[in-house]
Amino acid sequence: MLTRDNARIRTSMTRDKQFSALSATRRVLSQGGPFHVKGGEVWVEGLSCREIVKPLGTPLLVYSTARLLDNIAEVTAAADASSCPIRIHFALKACYLGGVVSLLRDAGLSVEVISEYEYLLARRIGFSPAQVVVNGPAKRPEFLEHAVIDGVSLINVESLPEIAFLQSLGQRLGRTIEVGIRINPLLSRRLRGQFAPPGSKFGFDVPSGEAAGAVRRIVASSSLSLRAVHCHSYTRQYRPDAHRAHVAAVVKFLRRVEADLGIRIPVLDFGGGFGSRYPMEAQGQTFRHFIREMLEPLVGLPGDRQVIVEPGRYLVNDAAACLTSILTCKRTVHRRWALVDAGRNILPPRENAEYVVMPCHVSPGRTMYHVGDFLCVPSEPVPLSLVSGAITPGDLLAVFNAGAYTFSMAQNFGEPIPNAILVDKGEWTWLYKKLSVEEQFNEMIW
Ligand SMILES: Cc1ncc(COP(=O)(O)O)c(C=O)c1O
Repeated sequence: MLTRDNARIRTSMTRDKQFSALSATRRVLSQGGPFHVKGGEVWVEGLSCREIVKPLGTPLLVYSTARLLDNIAEVTAAADASSCPIRIHFALKACYLGGVVSLLRDAGLSVEVISEYEYLLARRIGFSPAQVVVNGPAKRPEFLEHAVIDGVSLINVESLPEIAFLQSLGQRLGRTIEVGIRINPLLSRRLRGQFAPPGSKFGFDVPSGEAAGAVRRIVASSSLSLRAVHCHSYTRQYRPDAHRAHVAAVVKFLRRVEADLGIRIPVLDFGGGFGSRYPMEAQGQTFRHFIREMLEPLVGLPGDRQVIVEPGRYLVNDAAACLTSILTCKRTVHRRWALVDAGRNILPPRENAEYVVMPCHVSPGRTMYHVGDFLCVPSEPVPLSLVSGAITPGDLLAVFNAGAYTFSMAQNFGEPIPNAILVDKGEWTWLYKKLSVEEQFNEMIW
């Protein structure tokens, strides 16, 4: 039961996290990078937020090309610096905007998808089937067949029925299908991630022997070939030792099944789950350190191995801000509210979101406001977010860390999914044009 004390501790922890995210954001804004403050205004590259919203209105999702390219360069450099070959597959679920993901593709990154919709989107963006890893706890049979016929690089299986389906598909097509197996090793309670608690819907459980049994099923099949072991444990995990423990657990499993069955599994797919870049750097870590530390358990593993990592959030989250206008300011007995026009239609409220909100016109005042949205839902996208300074209706706020799991999880609720743009130096281009009310209504069966 949540006691009043527990609730108070949790609120103050959330508030502490909020303040440290806020101070990391202030630091980033002061460094003259793609998001910066000039003349008391927040700018995205060569455009001030105030100028950006004039023709486009709010809410507006704004990505910075420079930050995206820099994040890509950071990830690529980390992969290049590793002694083990690493393939980066961007987790497409983090961002469905073609104009953003094309930059990743152009830089040579590959992609990870979880459904036929994502697969078709990846193909439309220009990824070849050989650049695609397919994940997901429940994949449609027709999608699996499509992926196999196209020759995707890897399908990670997560259940016995999926293994059985692919086995008979291989027989029907007269070919051997290469698969990976997703496993859930049991990490210590301290390091266990949200994706792999005991009884998880994902993959195969390791401690009970389920995963080893599934490996045996695949190995015994003449139409399947086991190419990879896959595990994704975390979201927004800022501790390299946690990722290291996750890799160590996968390696332990791999060594055991390889020794027991006399096989060699060449690919290790460690999923994603990294934090966003500037909060990571504010904690004294870089992606390069992360990769180095997490892959330490691979030392001494015999044979040629290839590693896959599937970052989503790290690549895109801090590359976008959502610009939103204050609709109403109100003062209750308990708090001051600033209610804004960006709701869950573009900022889905998620426990693992890292939204940080600040006024686009930076003023020195000390008044603190809670920021809420315009919707008739009591939970806020930016829980307990506080902005300081004097603000009034019509003022513009920027919600930072809005690049991952925003557009891809956006919904028509209260208002339609809003516009999204990409800024490159002093220019902007469309990423997504909001549907007009007329267009929305035309989609409905009346
Ligand atoms: C299998 C898999 N890979 C990669 C990711 C990307 O995770 P993140 O955006 O936290 O890096 C996810 C996210 O849920 C996932 O489920």
